[in-house]
Amino acid sequence: MTAVEPHIRDAWHREDKEENVGSPRYLIHTLGCQMNERDSEIMAGQLETMGYAPTAAEDEADLIIINTCAVRGSAEDHALGHIGRLKQLKAQHPHMTLAVAGCMAQEPKTIAWLKRHAPHVDLVFGTHNLHQLRRLLDEAEQHEEMLVEVWKSAGDTLAEHVPSRRKQGVRAQVNIIYGCDKFCTYCIVPFTRGRERSRRLDDVLAEVQALAGEGYEAITFLGQNVNSYGHDFDPPVDLADLLTRVEPIEGIRWLHFMTPHPRDFSQKLLEFIGQSHKVSRQLHLPVQAGSNPILRRMNRKYTREQYLDLIARARSVIEDVTFTTDIIVGFPGETEEDFALTLDLVQQVRFDSAFTFLYSAREGTPAARWEDRDPVPNPVKKDRLNRLMALQYQISWEANQHLLGTTPVVLVEGRSKKDPHVWAARTQQGKVVLVERETETDLTDRFVPVRITVAKTFYVAGRIAGEPLNAPPRRAKSIPMW
Ligand code: 5AD
Ligand code: SF4
Repeated sequence: MTAVEPHIRDAWHREDKEENVGSPRYLIHTLGCQMNERDSEIMAGQLETMGYAPTAAEDEADLIIINTCAVRGSAEDHALGHIGRLKQLKAQHPHMTLAVAGCMAQEPKTIAWLKRHAPHVDLVFGTHNLHQLRRLLDEAEQHEEMLVEVWKSAGDTLAEHVPSRRKQGVRAQVNIIYGCDKFCTYCIVPFTRGRERSRRLDDVLAEVQALAGEGYEAITFLGQNVNSYGHDFDPPVDLADLLTRVEPIEGIRWLHFMTPHPRDFSQKLLEFIGQSHKVSRQLHLPVQAGSNPILRRMNRKYTREQYLDLIARARSVIEDVTFTTDIIVGFPGETEEDFALTLDLVQQVRFDSAFTFLYSAREGTPAARWEDRDPVPNPVKKDRLNRLMALQYQISWEANQHLLGTTPVVLVEGRSKKDPHVWAARTQQGKVVLVERETETDLTDRFVPVRITVAKTFYVAGRIAGEPLNAPPRRAKSIPMW
């Protein structure tokens, strides 16, 4: 799981077409990870088949859904604050429907809070029953009080063939495995998303095939533990098997997957990536901490030495591989010596970038029940976070210097927010590239070679060095049933 930049997230809310005049309007606020992003697409698809059209303006919406994240306290506070603020809007627009969905909805404490503080919410549903949105909305309309329908688990069969409204463009995310069985002691995900369930390989293949037919060219496979894919089948299959079957699909240029767990990263998968022309050579491998006592307390199921060995093996079979990671600072029991080992590991691996988090005790997780549930004082945590970030920024800057003079192919995402004379793009390794806009031609969603001439900490920049590899993509896409 990794954070997603907000500017990408709301792209499909902004379409405003003439044919939508008179339709009821929906707005989905999505917090958290890619799994939530994908869930929002599935909610949007159902709403659009019911005749709803998207809007970006809350006061125009007939339906607002807050798709919440429970991974840290800050994400929860953000959602609760937003829900609280919508009380006034709801009073002005009594016919508007307000729904709360996502990981927080799976937590009993959220339901209690909503009942007490947010009676203006009409509907609460969870991560396991979002494919029933049509029925839930119908029932909520008949209900005087808040309708709460949260399933504890997904049941025996996975919901397939649910309509979904993906973002325009050439990138698509595809779920391949839901849930998590790892039970890291700090993490709420196994409780909000349930046990691991893989989608059938044929279902995934058919979806990618259809996406290629729609003009999607870059696919990201999603799962909380994406490289556990297929272990629950008899006979089992794995992520390398899936990628082997997907790679020949014509029209797909880039393949990516997130998030793998270091413990389940097989040699077979490393070797597959090493010889693949489509799979990204950027591996996001959350390490979380650099000291063995803390890794053990976190129940990460690997040691520092095993993690470093995985990095070394990846480097030996995947040319030009780069790594990114997630790190938690201030986990219960983390001493200055433990933290020094995290800094040391960061120095050794030289991640391209890292998502760094202050530990946040999550009610319902094992670590939150320990006696020392949160003993590292906040100023100490923050000081460690600052030191970690300073080190990582230095390494990111140095890593970017190696790109000077190279000519990677980048995927243009659109005009830069800060400077309309510049295209914002990314390499296949996820690196932000700012590209000088030299002509009026719209390069959005085109793959273009760019010569890198500037390298900073958070981005590189350069000039177009050749023709786009793909034709301008088709704009209007259907709502496929997945
Ligand atoms: N506190 C802080 N960070 C957390 N993460 C997960 N749970 C917590 C928590 N309780 C971080 C991990 C994970 C990322 C998505 O969020 O680093 O990889
Ligand atoms: Fe949470 Fe650990 Fe599962 Fe990742 S592997 S979702 S951190 S429990």
